[in-house]
Amino acid sequence: MRGLAAGNWKMNGTKADLAEVADLLKAHSAPACDVLLCPPATLLSRMAEAAKGTSLAVGGQDCHAKASGAHTGDVSADMLADAGATHVILGHSERRADHGESDVMVADKVTAAQAAGLTTIVCIGETEGDRDAGRTLDIIGSQIDGSLPATCEAGKLVVAYEPIWAIGTGRTPSLDEIAEVHAFLRNQLSPRFGDGIRLLYGGSVKPGNAAEIFALPNVNGALVGGASLKAADFGGIIAALSAA
Ligand code: 13P
Repeated sequence: MRGLAAGNWKMNGTKADLAEVADLLKAHSAPACDVLLCPPATLLSRMAEAAKGTSLAVGGQDCHAKASGAHTGDVSADMLADAGATHVILGHSERRADHGESDVMVADKVTAAQAAGLTTIVCIGETEGDRDAGRTLDIIGSQIDGSLPATCEAGKLVVAYEPIWAIGTGRTPSLDEIAEVHAFLRNQLSPRFGDGIRLLYGGSVKPGNAAEIFALPNVNGALVGGASLKAADFGGIIAALSAA
């Protein structure tokens, strides 16, 4: 399965940072994996313009479940597509924590985004307390059940496993722990969607640990935060995935 290196810029980046995208495209013009960057909504059009004619895809970090209307500050899936996005991250743990997004809300957003033609990267992950209590697979299982709508389309679904305690901390689960969760996800998803769903790992992925993570079974790429902001770092991750 072709890998996906997805970068989530979170609330970082202004137009000056598009220089990093230019550098990335120069260094990795024909990667052996798919590459996606999800900048803040303010940069989407500009980044899509910079990516035109290249292999780089751009995506949003969230969307509203409704197509339009009186929802101040929100952006719809159609608007993301109009700005040049082909993908959208949904249910990121920071959205779940900062904006109280529930599994049901995430599922509604998935429905809206897929209807707009976007590929949805649905995020799930346990807290450190859940892991310590041995509840990781229970939590992941119920998040997956609740966050994927009945109408979810296999061709527009990517799932990202991001343990909350590994995000931005420099800590990661052991390789065995990552492999265990990804095998569990594959088993959960395969009966319904087949074996082609890409499963990304996210949480403190860096050039230095990417290769060993990508060597694990059922890891088909990464969702990268901090290390996606700099062309050299993200490029190292792209190179590792291309070689996997
Ligand atoms: P870091 O790579 O900065 O840990 O962030 C991971 C993440 O949340 C990507 O969505």
